[in-house]
Amino acid sequence: MTMMKRAVDWLDVRLGVRELWEENTSGYLVPRNINAWYSLGTVLLALFGLQFLTGILLLIHYVPDTEKAFGSVETIVNAVPYGWLIRNLHAVGSNLIVVVLLLHMLSVLFMGSYKRPRELTWLSGFILFNLGLGLCLTGYLLPWSQLSFWATTVATDAAGAVPVIGPKLVEFLRGAPSVGAPTLGRFFALHVVVLPGALMGLVGFHLFCVRRCGISVPPFGKDAKPARVGTVFDHEKHPGGIPFFPNYTAEEAAMVCFALAVLVAVTFFAPQIFIPLDALEPANPFVTPEHIKPEWYFLWAYQTLKIFPSKLIGLAAQGALMTFLALLPFIDRGEERRPAKRPLFVTCYVLGLLLLIGISIWGRYS
Ligand code: HEM
Repeated sequence: MTMMKRAVDWLDVRLGVRELWEENTSGYLVPRNINAWYSLGTVLLALFGLQFLTGILLLIHYVPDTEKAFGSVETIVNAVPYGWLIRNLHAVGSNLIVVVLLLHMLSVLFMGSYKRPRELTWLSGFILFNLGLGLCLTGYLLPWSQLSFWATTVATDAAGAVPVIGPKLVEFLRGAPSVGAPTLGRFFALHVVVLPGALMGLVGFHLFCVRRCGISVPPFGKDAKPARVGTVFDHEKHPGGIPFFPNYTAEEAAMVCFALAVLVAVTFFAPQIFIPLDALEPANPFVTPEHIKPEWYFLWAYQTLKIFPSKLIGLAAQGALMTFLALLPFIDRGEERRPAKRPLFVTCYVLGLLLLIGISIWGRYS
C-alpha cells in the first residue's frame, strides 16, 4: 500500500495526477436530472472494447484467403477451445452495437442535444455511426459463406447506379468485376486496420467534445434549459449536480451490465437469429441462394432501391437522408430543446422512424 502511495506521490509531484483525478471524478458534476439514456455512450464504449478483444482473438486463427477463410471459421467454432463463444460474441455483439448506436442517436435527437454548441459532437457521432456500419459490412464478408458472398455482391452492386462512374466504382470496391479474392483482401484490411483505427481516433475526438462542452441538461421538468447561443466558448457547468464518479458511473455500470446480460443471453440461447443457415455454407459463386436478404439494419436501404422506378433515385433518396441527418444541427437551429415544445420535430421524428421500420419490414418480407 505504501509502495502504491509513494508511486502516486511521485507522479503527483510531476503531473499533478491527484488534481486531475479529482477534477474528472467527484469534482466533475453532471446534471441532477440526468437519465439512463445518457449512459448509452458508455455502453457503446464497453461493447466496442469487447469487440476489439474478441476480434483480436479471432484473428489468431482466421485466414483471409478465399480457399481457407470458411474452414478457418469452422475450426474456430468447432475445434478451438471456447472459439464458438468468441465468434458468437463478436457476431452478436456487432448487432447489439447497431441497436445501441441507433438508441444513442435517437435519444440525442429527441432531447435536442445535437443543437448548438454540440454540432461537432453530433457530426463526429454521425461519422462514428457510419464507421460502425462500415465495420459490419466489411466483417460480414470475412467468413466467406454463401451469405457473406451474396450479401456483399448485392451491396456492392448498388454502387453501380451512380451515374457515369457507377460500373468503375463497383469494380473499385470489389477490386475485380465480381466479388472474389481481391474483395476479401480489401475488406479484411478495412475491417481489421483502417476502420477500427479511424473509429478509435474519432471516439477520442467525440469524448473530447462531450467533456469540453459539458454534458447537456436533460430538457425535462423545471431544470430544462434552451440550447445556448452565446458567441464565446462556455463550458456548461452543473453546480448542485451529482458527481460523475462514483455516483453516475455506478448508474452507467448498471446499464453496461444490462447490455452485457442481453449480449450473453442471445449468444448462448439464440445466436441463430444473427447467424442464419446460409452462413453455414461456404461461398459458391455459381449458386445464388433463393432468398438473399441483407442484415436487418440495411433492409431499409435495400428496399428503397427496389421501391423507386430507378436505382439512381433510390440511391439519391438515401444520400439525401444521410446528408440531412449529418447536417441537422446546422439546419434545425432553434434554441428550444423540450420535446413538448418542438411539435413539428417530434412529429417528423415519429413518422420518420415508423416509415423506416415499415420499409425495413417490407424489405424483409417482400
Ligand atoms: C462509437 C460510437 C459512439 C460512442 C463510443 C459514443 C460515446 C459517447 C459518450 C460516452 C457520450 C457522453 C454521455 C452520453 O450522452 O452518452 C456521448 C454523447 C453524445 N453523443 Fe455519442 N457516441 C457514439 C456515437 C454517437 C452517434 C452515432 C451520435 C449521433 C449521430 C452521437 C452523438 C452524441 C451527442 C450529440 C452527445 C452529447 C450528449 C449530451 O451532452 O447531451 N454519438 N457519446
